[in-house]
Amino acid sequence: MATEKQELNPLVSRQSWLDERLDWARFKEKYLRKPFPVHSSFFLGEIALFSFIVLVLTGIFLALSYVPSTELVKLDGKDMPAAYASVVQNDHTPFGLIVRQVHHWAAHLMIVAILLHLLRIFFTGLYKKPRELNWVVGVLLLGLTVFAAFSGYLLPFDQFAVTATGIGYNIARSVPWVGPALANFIFAGKFPSTATIPRFYAYHVMLLPLILIILVGLHLLIMFKQKHSQPPYALRRAGVGKILGVPLWPHQTLLMAVLFLVLSGSLFIVAGLFPVHPVEYYGPPGPATPIVKPDWYLLWPYGALKLIPGWINFQFLGATINSENVGGVVIPGLILLLLLLIPFLDRSRESVHYLELPREHAARTAFGMAVLVFFGVLMVAGYNEELGLSVGALQFTALLAPLVTGLFTYVLLAALRRSRESVRDGPEIVTSVGANLDPVKDSEDLRR
Ligand code: HEM
Repeated sequence: MATEKQELNPLVSRQSWLDERLDWARFKEKYLRKPFPVHSSFFLGEIALFSFIVLVLTGIFLALSYVPSTELVKLDGKDMPAAYASVVQNDHTPFGLIVRQVHHWAAHLMIVAILLHLLRIFFTGLYKKPRELNWVVGVLLLGLTVFAAFSGYLLPFDQFAVTATGIGYNIARSVPWVGPALANFIFAGKFPSTATIPRFYAYHVMLLPLILIILVGLHLLIMFKQKHSQPPYALRRAGVGKILGVPLWPHQTLLMAVLFLVLSGSLFIVAGLFPVHPVEYYGPPGPATPIVKPDWYLLWPYGALKLIPGWINFQFLGATINSENVGGVVIPGLILLLLLLIPFLDRSRESVHYLELPREHAARTAFGMAVLVFFGVLMVAGYNEELGLSVGALQFTALLAPLVTGLFTYVLLAALRRSRESVRDGPEIVTSVGANLDPVKDSEDLRR
């Protein structure tokens, strides 16, 4: 009788159908019940992932009409590069412009989410054992995402795109020893050559998405294998070795579905409210050079270029080292290297399974704040003329502001720590009704 009833229930019968063929119940128990911590900061990685999915979907739509060629074609009776003309035409087809704008804003959102995700991992010490490898994979993901955005910049092939990409070409050429060969390789000859657009198109729609997909897969696989870190209150609520969270199916999946829909909807609203500049505004490449600033995420090397003193110019092992390659290559290269090596430079060797609170790690938090302020000053330097700030004042600020911020953060957090410890080690607290409070436990509870 019971089996008859079960067979009448389509959900149960479908499950046993799947069980007989795919051992579904075991799969569900093993993988779909994986617990996920519920904490808003854990959504940052997912926002990066979902922005990437939106980029792939909108990118497929755009690729249907994009022509990766600089060959001249007729547009409104005038000769125009085919790439430029195809983007103009895309913007005049139904949904073409809005999809292009969503693609643009999704790229910005992905970079913002990755950076905030990186900061969460850094400030909570999650780069430490056992997650060093995933940190390195993450830094590669960040670099490749920025390069993917840069390669997309050129594709509309308007005067703006060509000027902005030209800055990147000059930076690549200035790399000591291998610069010209490297620039020729990346840009398919002297920029802008007829081969540059097909080369950048291949990077943008094939090579980089493929590497990103492989690396994101590896990143998530490592994360699954090592298990999620836990927010600090999980230890108190669930106990040692227990995970506090919701199962992947159905709870986490539903949360992710809601996040994906909200994110996609918001991108459409932003794309409708804040249009990207129309390609006709700058027109096809011509002799005039418009004043072009890099997007915010590449503004810091541009600012560094301005702040490096112009008198730097010497020969080193046959290569010319000057202000251009110090600001555009040496400083960004050192910063990338430092980022990659962070897990190996941190001398604390303990494994981390629960997020470390930034306020309890004064030295790391102070260092992180100093670096953030340094980047902030470099970004402001990118707009120094518009803001009326002298290069000299900015050079001074770039050295002093991070130092002051780091020191201030360290002193403040150390003082807070001492005051917490004095509460912990303070006298026994007796309530008016005579009940003994546990000072450690109660002050812990109050702090959560
Ligand atoms: C395309 C870029 C990236 C995507 C799509 C991505 C995605 C994710 C997702 C979905 C998670 C699990 C949820 C979470 O903990 O937030 C995660 C965890 C992690 N990510 Fe990323 N991530 C990216 C870049 C980075 C970067 C730049 C770093 C650091 C340099 C990084 C380091 C980590 C680490 C260490 C974990 C494990 C955290 C834990 O166990 O709680 N990721 N990532």
